[in-house]
Amino acid sequence: MAGETRVLSVASECVPLLKTGGLADVVGALPAAIAAEGVDMRVLIPAYRSLRWRLETMEQVFDEADLFGGPARVFLGDVSGIRVLLLDAPHLYDREGGPYSGPGGDWPDNPIRFAALSWMGARIAREGTSDGWRPHILHAHDWQAGFAPAYMAFSGARDVATVITVHNMAFQGWAKADLLGYLRLPAWEFHPGSLEYYGGLSSLKAGLVTADWITTVSPNYAAELMRPEAGMGLQGIMSSRASHVTGILNGVDTAVWSPEAEERPYTIRTLRRKADSRIALSAAFGLDVPGPLAIVVSRLTHQKGIDLIPDVLPGFIEAGGGLAVLGSGDPAMESAMRALELRYPGRVGVRIGYDEGLSHLMFAGGDAVIVPSRFEPCGLTQMYGLRYGTLPVVAQVGGLADSVISANPAAVSAGVATGIVFAPTTGDALAAALRRLMELWSDQSLWQHIQRNAMRHPVGWEASAREYAALYDRIRR
Ligand code: ADP
Ligand code: GLC
Repeated sequence: MAGETRVLSVASECVPLLKTGGLADVVGALPAAIAAEGVDMRVLIPAYRSLRWRLETMEQVFDEADLFGGPARVFLGDVSGIRVLLLDAPHLYDREGGPYSGPGGDWPDNPIRFAALSWMGARIAREGTSDGWRPHILHAHDWQAGFAPAYMAFSGARDVATVITVHNMAFQGWAKADLLGYLRLPAWEFHPGSLEYYGGLSSLKAGLVTADWITTVSPNYAAELMRPEAGMGLQGIMSSRASHVTGILNGVDTAVWSPEAEERPYTIRTLRRKADSRIALSAAFGLDVPGPLAIVVSRLTHQKGIDLIPDVLPGFIEAGGGLAVLGSGDPAMESAMRALELRYPGRVGVRIGYDEGLSHLMFAGGDAVIVPSRFEPCGLTQMYGLRYGTLPVVAQVGGLADSVISANPAAVSAGVATGIVFAPTTGDALAAALRRLMELWSDQSLWQHIQRNAMRHPVGWEASAREYAALYDRIRR
């Protein structure tokens, strides 16, 4: 390795600062994971209103007089061991609400808000911060940072290499073409081979076209994105760049997600103590379930296939199963879940909302975790399921297919199964998977064997951090 590699990670979310989904988990876990590989990573994220109090203890390292309509400053500080750069631009980020939306829905100026983040990422990459730090690599995440590699490419600066990671192709950062000049993008790049996308702009496309390298959060998703069914309009770009695309499976933070660290700890050797957590979970949801207790911890959206559950659940309940759901999202899906709870008192429990602590109890106490996604770039909850011996029942898409070995007869006789994988993502296939789950449950020694396989399956960051480090080494100039 040519000395320590410095990387500027640019993203809209980062645990523990702010999280709406797995993106934040990954952006927050990478710096520590990759430090072990000799990479010095800083994370640039906007100083949303909920984060501004932190600025007081941070050091100002950069400023810009006019960042798309107002002044901006960048502050550096340490948050839980992460070197964080907070971009303070009150006219863009100091608002009541979430990172992408307020009381009235998505912020109409989102294209500008995140182009601004990308612009600052590119400036810091070119000029460094006032403490003398300058990255070798700019690593952009998803559409929110998609313009960062583009600003780099159009600036002509060639000494900093760029990577973009696709966590979710469904969000493409679409903007009207007439913003081109305002966003400081060159007019001559507005053509289908570069910035133009269906008559407008897409920050994700801009990143995919201009970054030196593209990664996705699982190898299978990288392959899927080259096909129309999953590429969502950008499959042509993805295939044309195939030789510069790598799928690197996410890891999970195994210190945070560990059955040994739970309130009622258990390990692979003391697996029977998992029953204590199941009792606590049942009490929390008011459940009394004779057979396997399945859980769902998820955004309740079309992507996640939550709408398939109401049709298949009656068969599972009649066979003795139960279900605990934690999630929020689509109002129709929220009420469908509530209706199931009313229909099956004592067998189905539902919590609408976001609750990190409860989610831990659910993975510890559940017997299986259901992830029936229509598409899933990586997915983290199936990995928590593996770690906790809470058997994942997953659709055969994206990273779900890359992380679970289905208990088909071959895998069972080879002794390697870790869960159940079903395809396609339909009610019939999910129902069949739940019947298979019941079969496995009826043979408790086989069930426990699969649980132990699951718990032994490596889900930490080590291997993936090595892959990112190798990629940085390969492209750094
Ligand atoms: P996505 O990012 O598409 O939502 P992931 O599986 O990558 O899917 O990540 C979701 C993350 O959010 C996981 O850490 C999961 O445990 C967490 N999560 C989702 N919904 C909830 C909820 N209602 N309460 C607590 N944690 C949740
Ligand atoms: C996105 C994807 C999810 C992935 C996460 C982190 O939110 O929907 O599958 O695990 O990003 O990469």
